[in-house]
Order: sequence, then structure tokens, then C-alpha cells
Amino acid sequence: MTAIGIHDLELATGHYVVSLTDLAESKDIAPGKFVLGLGQSEMSVLAPDEDIVSMGASAAKPLLERNGTDGIRTLLFATESGVDQSKAAGVAALELLGLPHNVRVAEIKQACYGGTAALQAALGIVSRNPTERVLIIAADNARYQLDSPGEPTQGAGAVAMLITADPALLAVEPADGISTTDVDDFWRPNDSTTAVVNGKLSIDAYLDALTDAWGDLQDHGGPAIGDIDRILYHQPYTKMAKKAQQRLRQVTGDDISTALNPGDEVDGRDTGLETSARYNRRLGNSYTASVYSALASLLDHDDSLAGDRIGIFSYGSGCVSEFFTGIVQDGYRDVRDAGTIDAALDRRVPLSIDEYRALHQGPHGTSADEVTPQVTDAPFRFAGVHEQARQYEAR
Ligand code: HMG
Repeated sequence: MTAIGIHDLELATGHYVVSLTDLAESKDIAPGKFVLGLGQSEMSVLAPDEDIVSMGASAAKPLLERNGTDGIRTLLFATESGVDQSKAAGVAALELLGLPHNVRVAEIKQACYGGTAALQAALGIVSRNPTERVLIIAADNARYQLDSPGEPTQGAGAVAMLITADPALLAVEPADGISTTDVDDFWRPNDSTTAVVNGKLSIDAYLDALTDAWGDLQDHGGPAIGDIDRILYHQPYTKMAKKAQQRLRQVTGDDISTALNPGDEVDGRDTGLETSARYNRRLGNSYTASVYSALASLLDHDDSLAGDRIGIFSYGSGCVSEFFTGIVQDGYRDVRDAGTIDAALDRRVPLSIDEYRALHQGPHGTSADEVTPQVTDAPFRFAGVHEQARQYEAR
């Protein structure tokens, strides 16, 4: 059987960054709560001329430069920060990226799980015709109300992935474990630009979904826990991955380590909890992109993965989740320049807390005509709204 999976991936984020130590101090909260308690050191914030389209296209640009566009006949855009109720964000991204017009484009939504739904659809398309390649863009801008418990778990990021036969990074295995339950743990009503969340319920829903999806994977012929070398979890904040690993340790009885913070004693088998958290600790929640950002972090910071089996747990509130596995391909280190994401994170412009709060309260997601100030130095920008339609341009 032809191997199908992730051939290449790339990550982009916003122009600005907020230090979570500064955010905690501005609220008279001990910084340890955010930095250790949540496992987050920074969060990305978008400039007024950035959104999921500009950020997603910016992630896809280097991917297409490395791999060309031949055989790409589908672009799936996964997001829960949609900029229009009707038109898929990927249509504007297609134009920015100069992709041919014989490409089908659609937007996929189910909270943070959307990226994995896109991946599953892409695997099906490529297995039907292995000469085709599918471009996935998973992009989100995670926004909660100011001064709410969710505020320190905001963030922004986009991952672009190319799904092909004979992939260079990760061959996805056929067995998967799925769990869907109707639960009101987190959602964003149509008339709100910030999410509504029941934080404690969302943690329980996530952990219960993990237990159920793991059981379903076992029922469908998935590998035993001892045959999985590294495990990635959706990371709304990186401490959540540690909670998930604790649950999986309980459920399976395996001695997988639950150490997360750099310098923590590894109290069992190291499955990459720390290595996979490096980008998300600095990005914040990037919803659909989060678990694939964890994959990028693992691949970029671990030289010894060739032939290893990786387990991936994708969770989207509401809630839909999936546990699947893949095998890291020989030569995976040659595909990407591992330093580029760290450099992009370092390049972000720091915001003071006053500046961040003003930006958060500024116009967001309206259809009122506007011309946005030129701020971002990313390849593409959101230029504003003209006659209620969003305008984009290459810089
Ligand atoms: P909270 O209630 O303010 O925080 O909000 P807390 O009191 O639970 O404290 C957090 C942790 O910090 C605790 O550790 C404290 O002990 C610790 P834990 O018990 O969890 O291990 N702590 C400290 N540690 C060190 N030094 C200190 C200190 N003080 C306290 N001084 C909550 C936390 C996560 C609820 C909130 O941030 C929130 O509502 N976030 C948004 C929802 C969320 O991220 N849920 C996660 C699961 S749902 C999901 O992943 C889906 C999602 O991505 C959306 C989608 O699918 O689209 C969100």
C-alpha cells in the first residue's frame, strides 16, 4: 500500500507578542500561574492588517516555494476564526499564493479539530489518486474576553501542510480512534468576536474525549501504547498536554513520563512532552494549528525520530476528537530549516499591556469599510474592507 501523509509543513504567526509575565503582573497575579501553571511564556497577537487569510497564506508561501504547485488540486482551509459566513478563507489565500484556478477550495470547521478533519479528507483524496497533492492551511486567532480566565491562553498561528503519497515527514497509519459528544464546553456565537468557555468543563471534556478516542483506537486495530514512541496532544496551553499524558498513563498503565517543564525530572518514558511544547509555549493557543505546531516543534528539536511512531491526539471543543498515529520518515531532518520558526518567534514585536488591551478592544471582524494601517512585515496583509468585502494584498 502506498504510504500517504505529511510531506512538508510550515508555520507562521502574528506580528506582535505579549509576555505572560507582564500580563500576570498587570493583574497582580503571580507570574508562576501563567508560566508554570498553564505552561505559557508568551502569546502572539495579530496586527490590524493581519488575519487568518494573511497568516495562513504566509505559512503556505515557503511550503510552495520548496515543493512547487504541481498536482495540487485541493486547498482545505481549517479555521474557527472564519472571516466570512459564506466564502471560504482559502479562496483569498489561493489568489494570494498564485495557485491555479483548477483547485477546489473549501473551509472546514469543528473548533480545534478542524485541521485533523482536513487531514483526513486529504488522505482520502490522495489515496484515490496518488498523483494529487493537497494543501491544508490551519489558521486561527484565539481571542477571549479581557480579564477572563481564558485571556492568558490566547494566541495566533497558522500551519500549512502538504499531503502527498510517499511523504517525506510523516506517513499516517490507517487505524484511528474517534470520539464525538455534544457538550457546551467552548464555543463562539455568531455575534461574538471572543469565545465563550466553561474552563473546568472544557478540561474534563478534553480528558474524557482522550480516554474514549484511545479506546476506539484500540478497538480499531491501533498500536499498543508501548509501540508508540512519541505522543502529541492538542495544546490550548502546554500544561494541558501534561494533564492529557497523566490521563493516558492512568488509562494504559504505561510508564509514559508526565514531566513537562524544561529541567523537570523525566519520571518515565520520554514521549516528547517538552520537545513538542516549545513553539506553543510561545505562540499561545492557535486552535486548529496547535497540534500540528506541536508536530513541527518535535520534528525540529529531536534528531532521533527516523522510523519512530508518533501518536497524535487532536481535540476540538464541542466536542470532536481523534487519536491517530504516523511513522516519521528517514531524512525528515532534511525537509525543513529547523531554525526558521524560532527566528520568526524571536522577530515578533513586543507589546506593552496598555497597547495590547487597546488593540484587543479595537475594531475586529466587522464589515464596515476601513483601510488598515500597514504594520505587518509578513508576505501578505489584510488591506481593509471595501464595500463590505475583505481586501488582501502581497507586500
Ligand atoms: P483558572 O481557573 O484561572 O486557573 O484558568 P487555575 O486556577 O485552574 O490555575 C491554572 C493552573 O495554575 C493550576 O494548575 C494551578 O494550580 C496553577 P493545575 O491544577 O491545572 O495543574 N497555579 C500556579 N502554578 C504555579 N505558580 C503559581 C500558581 N497559581 C496557580 N503561583 C483555565 C485555567 C484553563 C480554566 C482557563 O485558562 C481557561 O478557561 N482557558 C480556556 C479554555 C481551555 O483552554 N481549555 C482547555 C481544554 S478545551 C480545549 O483544549 C479546546 C480549545 O482549544 C478550543 C477549541 O477546541 O477550539 C480551548
